[in-house]
Amino acid sequence: MARPARLRRRNCYHGRLSGAGQAGVVPAGPPPGSSIVSHYDHILCIGAGYVGGPTMAMIAARCPHLKVTVVDINQARIDAWNSDDLPIFEPGLDEVVRAARGRNLFFSGDIAGGIRDADVIFVSVNTPTKTFGQGAGQAADLQHWEKTARQILAHATRDKIVVEKSTLPVRTAQAMERILNHNGHGLRFDVVSNPEFLAEGTAIRDLEDPDRILIGAHETPEGRRARTVIADIYANWVPRERIIESNLWSAELSKLTANAFLAQRISSINSISALCEATEADVDEVAYAIGTDSRIGPRFLKASVGFGGSCFRKDILNLVYICRGYGLDEVADYWESVIAINDWQQARFVHNMLANMFNTVAGKRIALFGFAFKADTGDTRESAAIGVTRQLVAEQARVVVTDPKALDNARIDLAPQAGLVEFEPDPYEAARGAHAIAVLTEWKLYRELDYARILAGMERPAFIFDGRNILDHARLHAMGFNVFAIGKAPLKHF
Ligand SMILES: NC(=O)c1ccc[n+]([C@@H]2O[C@H](COP(=O)([O-])OP(=O)(O)OC[C@H]3O[C@@H](n4cnc5c(N)ncnc54)[C@H](O)[C@@H]3O)[C@@H](O)[C@H]2O)c1
Repeated sequence: MARPARLRRRNCYHGRLSGAGQAGVVPAGPPPGSSIVSHYDHILCIGAGYVGGPTMAMIAARCPHLKVTVVDINQARIDAWNSDDLPIFEPGLDEVVRAARGRNLFFSGDIAGGIRDADVIFVSVNTPTKTFGQGAGQAADLQHWEKTARQILAHATRDKIVVEKSTLPVRTAQAMERILNHNGHGLRFDVVSNPEFLAEGTAIRDLEDPDRILIGAHETPEGRRARTVIADIYANWVPRERIIESNLWSAELSKLTANAFLAQRISSINSISALCEATEADVDEVAYAIGTDSRIGPRFLKASVGFGGSCFRKDILNLVYICRGYGLDEVADYWESVIAINDWQQARFVHNMLANMFNTVAGKRIALFGFAFKADTGDTRESAAIGVTRQLVAEQARVVVTDPKALDNARIDLAPQAGLVEFEPDPYEAARGAHAIAVLTEWKLYRELDYARILAGMERPAFIFDGRNILDHARLHAMGFNVFAIGKAPLKHF
């Protein structure tokens, strides 16, 4: 299929692609022929979160000729970035930060100074779902983002390129440009959209070897120039043919659309998992069978208790809100159903627990294996485990949560349930005296536990509800567990 004229990759560039696709951090010099980038060597990122921190650390590590500063209003977060105990857990992140911090990577609370110094400002602040007023529960809350625009305006003393790294509603750049360029000081701000596609848990791998970098800008001489500046930064380690150029609105909308499509695949296979349970088909076999079709592909077809994470839900809700704003109710309804299936899948999981544990879990100890929204992260935002825990507590179960990286966040999420939930780092201790285990995060360590030892300490009948389909169900059943997986016939002893 021909690529749309305005959505194109840059001409193939065979300059110095230092370390593209390799593990480890290999410092690179400026790309040959990049005449523009040398004038734009002070990079600032506003927002030192899950995106801003790792993304800037990678840019600094790969571009030692650039000075990269990351600022945040949250001084505790900045202090943590400057310590040995980084504020987020990501495999490989420590090494990347250590390679550049203090050399050309700086974390600072001095937002005004950072803005004054910068040639290019990435904005990577949070854009959660709005909880108040018009659009509450669906629209993106742009207050942090707009404050950032005003901060830039207040402190800038020369022209700058402003890069939208946050995920934003389509056409947000227009508002940003209006705020920035009506400044009365004759300063010029070129706004570029460069959405981030990293996935938590694999952020460093994704940043080192991205499928693509997307940069949207106005099709004007100034817009194209700004886009080239940003492309030149990435070209230090990303092959040019993976750097996609588009117009501003396409770039903004592509990020929302990518997350909607990914979430849709999960909801699609989860909807089929319910039918598998009703018919004794096996959802993993169905997923394998359809995933070998090259038109469908194998990824994102793993049935589970439902998707979580800070992005999928909020970005789909935002897409739904935008569609309704344009009068596209059928389109909005279509995407809203992706969330409806996800909510239903979580509720169905707890319903199955109750139904199979003789319709009551009151007073029963239930060990939740995993609280992070996915493996290899400590992030619990929108984790399915939050809803599952709340429902079990409402049923008066004695819930004990275990997770190798997410217990601190779990304590915050479950503050309203304080005193009703136990937190236990050791999964063997969590399962001691339990009636049931529910696996909610696909941590590898849960596959490798000694389940015979676990079973010996549990109440009988002992139940395992595998919300991630990661365990060896036949083996657990043979040991004596009653095993309930997603989209599979139950393996019971009664
Ligand atoms: N987390 C992900 O996996 C992911 C992936 C791709 C895109 N995104 C998008 O990237 C954006 C950031 O996400 P995140 O997960 O890094 O969020 P986050 O909440 O972890 O980090 C945002 C940071 O911005 C800071 N901040 C807010 N307002 C500020 C201001 N005015 N000045 C300075 N700092 C300010 C906050 O204190 C916070 O530390 C969001 O739009 C999100 O949708 C996230």
